[in-house]
Amino acid sequence: MTQDELKQAVARAAIDYVVDGEIIGVGTGSTANYFIDELGKIKERIKGAVASSEATAARLRSHGIDVVDLNDVDSISVYVDGADEIDGSGAMIKGGGAALTREKIVASVSRRFVCIADGSKLVARLGAFPLPVEIIPMAANAVSRQLQALGGQPRLRLNKGTNEPQVTDNGGYILDVAGLDIADPVALETSINGIVGVITVGLFARRGADVCLLGTGDGVKTMTYGG
Ligand code: A5P
Repeated sequence: MTQDELKQAVARAAIDYVVDGEIIGVGTGSTANYFIDELGKIKERIKGAVASSEATAARLRSHGIDVVDLNDVDSISVYVDGADEIDGSGAMIKGGGAALTREKIVASVSRRFVCIADGSKLVARLGAFPLPVEIIPMAANAVSRQLQALGGQPRLRLNKGTNEPQVTDNGGYILDVAGLDIADPVALETSINGIVGVITVGLFARRGADVCLLGTGDGVKTMTYGG
């Protein structure tokens, strides 16, 4: 199976986690896009969706799914999203698609986080994928120095072609930080969150996945974490 077929398989499997009559939280990225396409097929079963990015909102609308403002929702039954890396405890690196802040916000009000990923995303230890950190633009150098002090090598994410900094849906920039030793993802998430100028760090460890649907050559494997 190709990587895209594995992504499609986990996106289909995630439909089993959709709660009828409720609002669903929807992530961002190529795997989440396949999930949105599946959701479009059962759209009459849900009340609407909260989107984690403008791109996701546009794709949901293109399927005729109502996009609901998070401020109009008290809680969400399930949040479905991809990951750049996931470890054996359900901790993830996210933000390859620059949507990490809204993803973390929507996940924080969701009772269940279902991660959908092809098998290449499962790692023994997080950190081979450079850690995305969304920052306030004027703090780029200041935050970079702090991240270097933590052992990282930050690089400002640029738009391909233009060489201009990539600007997120929130008006932030992204630093992609290579070389970090992520022995303790919860501690590192807390520590990077505490740097002035950081909007969000793409470590999802304090609130990791509850379930991971992993696409493999042998089918979709379900991993559950925590209680
Ligand atoms: C978006 O900002 C990310 O967190 C995505 O969830 C992550 O990059 C996974 O994307 P793919 O499904 O495209 O691999």
